[in-house]
Amino acid sequence: MTHILAIDQGTTSTRAILFDGDLRPVTSAQQEFAQHFPRSGWVEHDANEIWDSVLATAREAIDRAGIAPSDIAGIGITNQRETTVVWDRDTGEPVHNAIVWQDRRTADYCRELRDAGFEETITSRTGLLIDPYFSATKLRWILENVDGARARAQAGKLAFGTIDSWLIWKLTGGKAHLTDATNAARTMLYDIAKGRWSRTICDRLDVPMDMLPEVRDCAADFGMAQSDLLGAEIAILGVAGDQQAACVGQACFKPGMLKSTYGTGCFALLNTGDQMVRSEHRLLSTIAYQLDGKVTYALEGSIFVAGAVVQWLRDGLHIIEAASQTQTLAESADPNQELIIVPAFTGLGAPYWEAESRGAVFGLTRNSGPAEFARAALESVGFQTRDLLAAMQADWADDAPPTLRVDGGMTASDWAMQFLADILGAPVDRPEVLETTALGAAWLAGHKAGIYPDQEAFAKSWALERTFTPQMPEDVREARYARWQKAVKATIAAI
Ligand code: G3P
Repeated sequence: MTHILAIDQGTTSTRAILFDGDLRPVTSAQQEFAQHFPRSGWVEHDANEIWDSVLATAREAIDRAGIAPSDIAGIGITNQRETTVVWDRDTGEPVHNAIVWQDRRTADYCRELRDAGFEETITSRTGLLIDPYFSATKLRWILENVDGARARAQAGKLAFGTIDSWLIWKLTGGKAHLTDATNAARTMLYDIAKGRWSRTICDRLDVPMDMLPEVRDCAADFGMAQSDLLGAEIAILGVAGDQQAACVGQACFKPGMLKSTYGTGCFALLNTGDQMVRSEHRLLSTIAYQLDGKVTYALEGSIFVAGAVVQWLRDGLHIIEAASQTQTLAESADPNQELIIVPAFTGLGAPYWEAESRGAVFGLTRNSGPAEFARAALESVGFQTRDLLAAMQADWADDAPPTLRVDGGMTASDWAMQFLADILGAPVDRPEVLETTALGAAWLAGHKAGIYPDQEAFAKSWALERTFTPQMPEDVREARYARWQKAVKATIAAI
């Protein structure tokens, strides 16, 4: 058996990538699926449509490679995190659309929990802050709002899972109800220091604990995909949330190593080793990965809108047809205009955590056009990254500021990466392989299957494509960042 199938189930699309025995991607298939916005601030997916997209892309990637399904040594799953699915254990049918991580419908309930002084309990156990972003309050919302759901849950009829659990359930034909430690860490129900579901939190949120999946290492036995699905029984051997998989794919295995992934949102993770660092600056403590029962922790900064701001230029404003056009437009933008977009479409994440904020544009003139919007969109991602890294540096008092390893779709833009280095005033390393999320999932599964090298050898294979070094004069950088901070303040004040 020579290949590994990585399933990367993201927020807006599903991808399946087949890796060969040397960890090289051989074929891939991708499918977008529908985003449902039933009300302002609500975001849903159809869990069955997600499953269909997984099956279709996996089959296509295998077909294209021309290998026998029995040549696949294992499956690695990586997924959009926090997104919440509740399904019936007997029928396998979801009782409601999946509630997506970006969804803000539980903002009021989160405020109630905070006002009641529950945040310290949450933070000390889960490393998270109380925010609608995480699964717990979404799960509670389903139990409260779907007819009969609470009674069925109490009777043990319903199962909860993040997308990884849902896919494992479907792939194994309902035989396995499992998750891994990184996905569990994003539910706001999991005690990351003790490594178990928190009874205190489940009780407070009225979540029956037998709805929850069993938690395993990231490289573990997650059951067998049924032979009628992919043409052979294939073991599921690796699972990690997409940001954690990217951390693995970027080989950020040593404390102090830092990666930032630019997908729908942007998520920066700093490896803090076996120490769970508690942030003083409103970042999250989370699990980077768990291997052989040993937890490696991370500090995480989460931005909800990164690539999504470019999508908005394309699908909302219709000023571009393809994301790649932003680069040329940004280059041609009028240097005398200073348009700032604060893309708080679904609230602001770290370090602000303003669930009810919405986006704003500053500095509009009669001459502001597509070029200025494109530049401001790309810049907003750089500014937000600086917000995160400033908080991280304050929490992680290390002499050597870490170098940032970047990945994800937007990092293909040289312009965006140069601006990032400029506004950070620090170098940015872009690796040769930008598909680090799928790579991380593949390595987890392939390592468990015994066909890929160990952690150290894998880390050595990480290859740099280009370093972007800061070129912006310091006074310009600081003045521009100060304007951004003012714009964010004004956006929050406008709620
Ligand atoms: O926490 C949400 C994150 O996992 C989503 O990632 O790549 O779909 O933006 P992405």
